[in-house]
Amino acid sequence: MAEGTLSGKTAVVMGVQNQWSIAWKIATALADVGANVAITYIDDRAKKNAEQLASTVDGMKTFVCDVQKDDEIAALRESLKSEYGKIDFLVHSIAFAPADELKNRFLETTREGFKVAHEVSVYSLIAVARELSPIMDKGGSIMTMTYLGSDRVFPKYNVMGVAKAALESTMRYLAADLGEQGIRVNAISAGPIKTASARGIPGFSAMQEEAARRSPLGDIFDTEHVAGTAVFLASDASAGITGDVIFVDGGYHAMGL
Ligand SMILES: NC(=O)c1ccc[n+]([C@@H]2O[C@H](COP(=O)([O-])OP(=O)(O)OC[C@H]3O[C@@H](n4cnc5c(N)ncnc54)[C@H](O)[C@@H]3O)[C@@H](O)[C@H]2O)c1
Repeated sequence: MAEGTLSGKTAVVMGVQNQWSIAWKIATALADVGANVAITYIDDRAKKNAEQLASTVDGMKTFVCDVQKDDEIAALRESLKSEYGKIDFLVHSIAFAPADELKNRFLETTREGFKVAHEVSVYSLIAVARELSPIMDKGGSIMTMTYLGSDRVFPKYNVMGVAKAALESTMRYLAADLGEQGIRVNAISAGPIKTASARGIPGFSAMQEEAARRSPLGDIFDTEHVAGTAVFLASDASAGITGDVIFVDGGYHAMGL
């Protein structure tokens, strides 16, 4: 997209852990086309990284937000309101499941693991959309990050696959609610990309190799393509799209054999 496409617009990108985070690549891609960008990080341990990354982009601000804490979501809204007045785009790039849930058989999923995975990876989208949409203008765009494991079984993706199915459904219900405010809500279904979260999935490299072997476009699993789609979903070029899952996986999802 051309330089300046999003100038005058403000984006909040949630879920920057380090320079490999999908959120970070989206944040810089939005800034590259002129958006004013704020990023959020989970806690004090992630703060230094986030601040160091943000210092490399003109005007980028950082805010803390642990999505398991309602007071931090409310504080984020207040900080954004006083810093920017209104925001235009919200990127939700957050997921978590306890490590054991991704090691055991799916059958062994615990009540607590199920609850935490859904609270952090799914409910958080509802919570941030509810709290931040009042400071979004008509024409606003919310996007979340999903994976094909919502629909197909990938060994060891386990409860995260179930959470991604719930996330995609949540995205559609939010799109229905927020349409009347002129706010669009979509999900980007990325192919397997090596990030901190991905490394926590046993057998992730094999998943990536298989996807590269089968996808019509081969091995194109990098954050750059995902970030390009996020820029598209923020821009007016996607003004007619809401309630949708857009696959950025080189066409892997379309393949049988
Ligand atoms: N990497 C992939 O292959 C891939 C593929 C498809 C979808 N995704 C999705 O993309 C999103 C980003 O993941 P990533 O791969 O960039 O990994 P990442 O580890 O860089 O990002 C995950 C983020 O979630 C944040 N997070 C976890 N619990 C949180 C909480 N309670 N409050 C606030 N933040 C919290 C982490 O701090 C981190 O910033 C996730 O939703 C993931 O499921 C990733």
